[in-house]
Amino acid sequence: MVSGAAGLALPVAGCGAGRDRWNEAVAETWAALSAGASLGELVRYATLAANSHNTQPWRFSATENAVTIMPDLSRRTPVVDPDDHHLFVSLGCAAENLSIAAEARGRRATVTVDAAGDGRVAIALEPAPAAETPLFVAIPERQCTRSDYDGRAVPADDLAKLEEAARVDGVDVVMIADPARMVAVLDYVVAGNTRQVEDPAFVAELTEWLRFNAGQAAETRDGLYTAASGNPTTPAWLGRLVFPWVFSAGSENDRYRRQIRSSSGIAVFVARAEGKAGWVAAGRSYQRFALQATALGIRNAFVNQPVEVPAVRAEFAAWLGLGRRPDLVVRFGYAPPMPKSLRRPVADVMA
Ligand SMILES: Cc1cc2nc3c(=O)[nH]c(=O)nc-3n(C[C@H](O)[C@H](O)[C@H](O)COP(=O)(O)O)c2cc1C
Repeated sequence: MVSGAAGLALPVAGCGAGRDRWNEAVAETWAALSAGASLGELVRYATLAANSHNTQPWRFSATENAVTIMPDLSRRTPVVDPDDHHLFVSLGCAAENLSIAAEARGRRATVTVDAAGDGRVAIALEPAPAAETPLFVAIPERQCTRSDYDGRAVPADDLAKLEEAARVDGVDVVMIADPARMVAVLDYVVAGNTRQVEDPAFVAELTEWLRFNAGQAAETRDGLYTAASGNPTTPAWLGRLVFPWVFSAGSENDRYRRQIRSSSGIAVFVARAEGKAGWVAAGRSYQRFALQATALGIRNAFVNQPVEVPAVRAEFAAWLGLGRRPDLVVRFGYAPPMPKSLRRPVADVMA
């Protein structure tokens, strides 16, 4: 069950011109894929993937039979993601969207990662019967929903569908629905979040990527629009000035306590191989999970603090007992949609 139609995202309040430009950009970004989709249209669908801080750290090149996704290192976030883990996960999310969209338009996709080189992801396309799957239909509906959820449990059948959808070679998904284990994850989220919020470099980097009002979000078409996370909008200059002062570990931790306690469960994605190929695989698995969740009317959002702070990550890995680096932590459950985030136009991401 998917609520709403492509492009019919929630309108946001705000001053007239900025809000109008934002609404137009949302409609353009999230429009449904046309019937005879060109490679450019497939690239647009790839960019609708989840990506860290919405930096959209990718550049695309396309030939008749292949699309290549290259890392755009000018869009790194070196404080929160010093080894580019999240950047390569983001490329994996985009590769999965592109593969699913290509399949819907009669092209079978094979994904390979240049792990020994710069980590670019090549997607070879060959003719195949067209298949519009529920995951394809969910691409323009998916979002990271960073609100409180309503606490309802996800039925066992649907949990099984999420696990099945997320199955990608080389990635394990640990599903956690037991309340005591969810509280244990919450403790790692709070430990990681406290260190991040108290680190001025982390706050400065985050502030750079925040978009404080609809007009600013529509102008850059990247970054984290405050309204999409349920936060107030302000003039950009004021937001940049005030945010570092009002962003506090106490209130953020309270927000995460509410958010995790109101979620139905948590999924942890763990690639078997550490390095670019494993990180891309983790992104592909997450994107499939998120699309299947969307198709079932289930929301999700990342709570990645336990994997972002190295000291906390080591403890979290030991708690999970897998002997490997955990890649992504995602909560899921039920909630109304939030305003969408934007993407840059395809012309801006073609190499
Ligand atoms: C590797 C990765 C890490 C992310 N980490 C977080 C996170 O810790 N907290 C969060 O709220 N969102 C996180 N996100 C979600 C992105 O911010 C989100 O995908 C982006 O802003 C675009 O929004 P959308 O997914 O709703 O289209 C992450 C996404 C990826 C792919």
